[in-house]
Amino acid sequence: MPPYAYLHKQFVPLDEAKISVMTNFMHYGTGVFEGIRGNWNSAQKQLFLFRMKEHYERLYNGCHVLNIDLPYTMDELCRITIEMVAKCSFKEDIYVRPLAYKSSESLGVRLHGLECDFLVFAFPWGPYLDTDRARCCVSSWRFPNEVPRAKLTGLYLTNALAKTEAIENGFDEAIMLTPNGYVAEGSGENLFLVIDGQLVTPPGSEGILIGITRDTVIKLAKNELGIETIERHIARVELYDAEECFLTGTAAHITPVAEIDRRKVADGEIGEVTRKLQQLYSAIILNNNPKYSDWCTPVYNK
Ligand SMILES: Cc1ncc(COP(=O)(O)O)c(C=O)c1O
Repeated sequence: MPPYAYLHKQFVPLDEAKISVMTNFMHYGTGVFEGIRGNWNSAQKQLFLFRMKEHYERLYNGCHVLNIDLPYTMDELCRITIEMVAKCSFKEDIYVRPLAYKSSESLGVRLHGLECDFLVFAFPWGPYLDTDRARCCVSSWRFPNEVPRAKLTGLYLTNALAKTEAIENGFDEAIMLTPNGYVAEGSGENLFLVIDGQLVTPPGSEGILIGITRDTVIKLAKNELGIETIERHIARVELYDAEECFLTGTAAHITPVAEIDRRKVADGEIGEVTRKLQQLYSAIILNNNPKYSDWCTPVYNK
């Protein structure tokens, strides 16, 4: 089966899913995207979409910011996504990319008076950071926190600059600071520290993206490990003293950070809290923990 996409209200082979060069969002960043993981459980021979509904709730929030009136209900978005992924017959971990965008073939910088559309496609995608001991640097690029933090395509320019700067300097990922110099997030992940046995992470008021993996980790830490999460400003120097540090994201899952600005985080090994959270999370996303099966949507009918 070739991979499929849903575009212009129909399912088409991915390599035929094309849009016009005049499409408004391509020029001005007037789109909202999501990233949803499909996790392949080989024992159950099933692909599970993780927290799909929450991803679409966040997409709707972003659409609200950009005046995108989505011509689909939540149920329709979920149904289209499941049908599209099922058509692809994937038997491996995948990444689903929904996009709501200003679809008018009309240039000019504005949000009003433009048509809107929705597309979604999926592709196989293994580990994102591809390391279990990430080496990070604090980025020289700071993200703008004037704009509401949704997954707006135009906002990711700063993240791309930060990521490439990090890679070119020999690191795996960048940690961006707010304009006030507090720790914000990675280019595609939220950040957690373990300090005095508790989790500490920047608050939403900092302008970070409120990650669904971040929410998952906060709930698992509390419910399964009895660990509270404190949401507060984090100064850059606190990164160097933390007992543990890890990044969370749909693509990156829970990735331990071993080094920041060429200083080891503790002894540079995966910390105990991080490891326990990773173990819980990797079982849950495969629907191997019945307590959290509401978070997993099976793709294939059996
Ligand atoms: C900038 C940024 N922060 C955080 C996240 C983590 O969000 P989530 O866990 O919902 O994938 C992402 C990824 O979507 C991101 O792009």
